[in-house]
Amino acid sequence: MSRIAYVNGQYVPHNEAAVHVEDRGYQFADGVYEVIPVVGNKLIGEVGHLDRLWRSMDELKMAEPMKRAPLKLVMREVLRRNGVENGLIYMQITRGVAPRDHPFPVDAMSSIVMTAKKTSPEKAAKKAEQGVSVITVPDIRWGRCDIKSVALLPNILAKQEAVENGAYEAFQVDADGFVTEGTSTNAWIVDQDGTLITRAASNSILSGITRADLLELLESNNIKVELRSFSVDELHTAREVFLTSSSSYVQPVVEVDGKVIGNGKPGSISNNLREIFMDYMNN
Ligand SMILES: Cc1ncc(COP(=O)(O)O)c(C=O)c1O
Repeated sequence: MSRIAYVNGQYVPHNEAAVHVEDRGYQFADGVYEVIPVVGNKLIGEVGHLDRLWRSMDELKMAEPMKRAPLKLVMREVLRRNGVENGLIYMQITRGVAPRDHPFPVDAMSSIVMTAKKTSPEKAAKKAEQGVSVITVPDIRWGRCDIKSVALLPNILAKQEAVENGAYEAFQVDADGFVTEGTSTNAWIVDQDGTLITRAASNSILSGITRADLLELLESNNIKVELRSFSVDELHTAREVFLTSSSSYVQPVVEVDGKVIGNGKPGSISNNLREIFMDYMNN
């Protein structure tokens, strides 16, 4: 089945899908995006993702390219046309096409692009069984990391550094020495007393939908969590470390900056939370 992309009202072959050279997303990173996981034909956290998309657009005073109901239909049609039962939807909305000039264009219409790709549940399960390594890097991003903007250059540089160091992810660290989040994931630790800790939502992190869904699941399972910043030292000496995202779900981390976490295997709390999350997605 050949891949199909949705571009401004049309379904086109993926390898022919294109936007204009003066699209403000291309020229200024003047756009927002969402990545929505699909498991067994179900869109996971759909409401949360769409709420966050509208919030991102509102924060940037960007016009919606369409209402929510037709957008939901397009998402399902993109999945159907690409035969995706397990995978990810990617959608990007920009301030549209206009002669290059910094101020918002007066009459441009927002552009929307959507694609879907398959992912392998087996591969993800294997990675979760083994655990991954992360490195820490300085957080050099702007002051509005709560907006899911396509301006991802600092994230890309950090992720590339991770790859070059044989790591899966880079956890970014603020000027005070506290972990903010990964390049496309939220960071969590379990301290030596067994307390679960993740940074509170603020302008310094993207409020992950996986993070929010897991927080709700924790509450309904009566598992306590501290919403506070934690230092690199706390990260290095944690009993367990894991990360969350739409593509990684709950992913145990077994090594940070070359230091082994716990016994070098995914910890029991991380494994348990992954199971709880997988159950939530599969049911
Ligand atoms: C910077 C950043 N933090 C966290 C996340 C995790 O968010 P979600 O769980 O909604 O995928 C992402 C996802 O892309 C991200 O880019």
